[in-house]
Amino acid sequence: MRTLNVELAERTYPIRIGAGLVSDPALILPYLKARRVAVVTNDVVGPLYLDPFVAGLRAQGLQVTEIVLPDGEAHKAWPTLNLIFDALLAARCDRSTTLIALGGGVVGDMVGFAAATYQRGVPFIQVPTTLLSQVDSSVGGKTAINHPLGKNMIGAFYQPKLVLADTTVLDTLPDRELKAGLAEVIKYGLIRDLPFLEWIEAHLDRLLARDPEALAEAVERSCRNKAEVVAADETEQGERATLNLGHTFGHAIETGLGYGQWLHGEAVAAGTIMAADLSRRLGWLTDDEVARVKLIHERAGLPVIGPALGADRYLELMAHDKKVSDGTLRLVLLKGLGRAVISAEATSAQIRASIEACCA
Ligand code: NAD
Ligand code: GLY
Repeated sequence: MRTLNVELAERTYPIRIGAGLVSDPALILPYLKARRVAVVTNDVVGPLYLDPFVAGLRAQGLQVTEIVLPDGEAHKAWPTLNLIFDALLAARCDRSTTLIALGGGVVGDMVGFAAATYQRGVPFIQVPTTLLSQVDSSVGGKTAINHPLGKNMIGAFYQPKLVLADTTVLDTLPDRELKAGLAEVIKYGLIRDLPFLEWIEAHLDRLLARDPEALAEAVERSCRNKAEVVAADETEQGERATLNLGHTFGHAIETGLGYGQWLHGEAVAAGTIMAADLSRRLGWLTDDEVARVKLIHERAGLPVIGPALGADRYLELMAHDKKVSDGTLRLVLLKGLGRAVISAEATSAQIRASIEACCA
């Protein structure tokens, strides 16, 4: 088992990465406030992993409430969030109940937000089951639901007590979801870790073949990058925004097409190509570097051309981005591979040109 910490003073918590961790309830016990937990999952992950997971917790004498949500990004919304509150209240869960998110980023983001707000805050644990959630969403305490006008617009910063990333559960992940997770892995290389980008380029075939050692290495190196950024800038006053490379364009794709049409990682991939193209227009990346960014995404089986929403619609949707400050859109761009910056330097005409060049 590999362990690293997200260093946040008295709220510091461990990320544990390894094979078979979900079958070891002893890893969870030290992080509970009381012997009461609510395990929240969805109707895809539940049939695969809920019963053995809950049986293990009950065998330790814990009182467990099970909550199964409908699957999918389209359900990352108020009505589904309310299902969690309904079940917690019906089971008379009190403030000492720990919520456990067993699922991908959708479950994790919603359970985190439920934990932040249920009775003004209860502890929670992340057990991420997708590559994307293991390398990104389970770490760092961003929790949210979507709004029809924008992705992740309603939420809170609220850190878990523990992240348990079991690489064995990735065996059942559909190929398309695995590839979507790779978009966030590649992101760390592009924004701040050139040696990691080179490692991904060299080991991408092993990752696509689900080599367990390669996956564990990718999860650990990704989480290490994320943990460092979160420790330095928990509430995104600066550096943390660089984790959103490709996301401003990507969120426009997700919202514009309707949540769930393109996977989050797919939208981020196409958005990253737009961000790289824009960086080249500003003179910060060479043609060869943009080609390299494109190639790694293509090799990972990710889309490098955005959908044809029309540049006007992209720009309208991007104006809702959380990085808009005082009416100015700031974008995460690359000043070389491995070096992201947050910049308002691109003109509307340049942004429009990149969208038009990189979309169907
Ligand atoms: P997801 O949670 O929808 O999971 C993808 C699909 O895989 C779902 O159908 C899910 O039920 C299924 N699944 C999950 N684990 C499985 C397993 N082990 N075997 C088989 N099927 C499995 O999507 P995701 O990609 O994990 O997360 C995307 C979400 O994460 C988006 O809503 C995005 O906004 C959010 N996100 C949040 C952060 C953050 O910092 N909080 C960062 C990145 C992304
Ligand atoms: N995925 C972006 C962040 O956690 O800040």
